[in-house]
Amino acid sequence: MPSRVAAVIVLAAGEGSRMKSATPKVLHSLGGQTMLAHVLASAEALDPEHLLVVVGHAREQVTAALTGRARAVVQESQDGTGHAVRVALESVGPLEGTVVVVPGDAPLLTARTLQNLVDAHTAATAATTLLTARVEDPTGYGRVVRDRHGVEKVVEDKDADAATLLIDEVATSVYAFAAEPLRAALGGLKPDNAQGELYLTDVVALHREAGLVVVAEVAADADETRGINDRVQLAELARLLRDRIVTRHQRAGVAFLDPQTAWVDAGVVLEPDVTIAQNTQLHGLTLVRRGAVVGPDSTLTDCEVGEDATVLRSVCTSALIGARAAVGPFTFLRPGTVLGVGAKAGAYVEVKNAQVGDGSKVPHLSYVGDATIGARSNIGAGTIVVNYDGRDKHRTSVGDDVRVGSNNSLVAPVTVGDGAYTAAGSAITSDVPAGALAVARQKQRNIEGWVARKRPAPGEKQGSHGQP
Ligand code: UD1
Ligand code: CA
Repeated sequence: MPSRVAAVIVLAAGEGSRMKSATPKVLHSLGGQTMLAHVLASAEALDPEHLLVVVGHAREQVTAALTGRARAVVQESQDGTGHAVRVALESVGPLEGTVVVVPGDAPLLTARTLQNLVDAHTAATAATTLLTARVEDPTGYGRVVRDRHGVEKVVEDKDADAATLLIDEVATSVYAFAAEPLRAALGGLKPDNAQGELYLTDVVALHREAGLVVVAEVAADADETRGINDRVQLAELARLLRDRIVTRHQRAGVAFLDPQTAWVDAGVVLEPDVTIAQNTQLHGLTLVRRGAVVGPDSTLTDCEVGEDATVLRSVCTSALIGARAAVGPFTFLRPGTVLGVGAKAGAYVEVKNAQVGDGSKVPHLSYVGDATIGARSNIGAGTIVVNYDGRDKHRTSVGDDVRVGSNNSLVAPVTVGDGAYTAAGSAITSDVPAGALAVARQKQRNIEGWVARKRPAPGEKQGSHGQP
């Protein structure tokens, strides 16, 4: 059904005082994005002419978080949801078509549900179509009162009598309205209620009284319409969102060894035949390619993991991990790490702003920072790239087919040429030519008979300086 959405209005002027936070409620995150970002994504999918976000409390912070075509409209004082929508409409010229209203604190609402609401609204040529939900505990919500003609009105919890309080169908603060009748009804709202506010919910009764078509659509999934008022609800919805994301990936061919302990942000991309093991968090714009295994106990943020690579018990941020590369266990890949095809960053290895070429290995207990390592090279156990002189960072370059001995210090800036070797324990402070062996350590000296002279057995006479 072709239907034009003239505007989506997101209600986000409230304080959210029950979060007990310095951060405005709609800027709290779940699934790696703020509540507001989730709502805006669903709103954008309707392709509205105007996307208006009503802001009030912490308006600078909320406005700064707007994306896409969203525009802030300031509601100076929070005089109710009806007032908020009125302020939004007054900020744009005359509208034709459908106006959708969504609360800023219902992040699980999907674009599909919104589109279904708009389609039902259009099909019924309704003035008001409200999304409702049947809930186990309706406490706090507006109750949807129906009569034999359909929806009669919405009564707020604080204004409801005992019989009305028993109704389990509630308003969700999600609506589709016809623009002109909405504008007319908003003009007729009165604050004659328990909270002394202009209620958007009263538009329902006003349209009914005016003989216009009012429709209530019961949400197929009541969880989608759940709002967040405090941190308990935030955590509950984060879990629901997590379940939704994990299920989507499972259906697309991703194996989760323990779905209950995997946390995957909404923006993460996983190819089929990826395996996500226990206790693994994938954040931001992480991309994991076919056949890769991530986890257990790993946290990846904004990383790309190549085909058939493995990441075991590691923490990686803004790292590119090549196909068939191996990371971990207990490895820390920091921003700017690029591991080539089949490369290895093994146990207790930290890498930062460094390229490790195809087939090269940093197998054990190393720090590699601000460095370029060519192909097929091996960095001996315990080797440290000394990239920082206390004031500036310098780069280290290691060529192809290099063998850096164990426990080296590569003191930057320094270059080790192709095919070169360095002796174990070396402190490499000057460049090593291609094909050379660098030995940069004190030569060993053995002092014969030292122990017998300096460490006599108990009972034997000790020298004057024999005591430690
Ligand atoms: C509202 C509905 C109620 C519904 C419930 C669903 C009204 C009068 N009541 O109640 O029927 O069951 O949502 O969650 O609409 N806001 C503004 N400006 C204001 C007041 C509110 O922008 O002046 C925003 C809030 O930031 C929030 C949304 O509107 O995002 C809803 O306001 P809230 O005070 O939470 O309304 P409820 O009491 O939950
Ligand atoms: Ca609310």
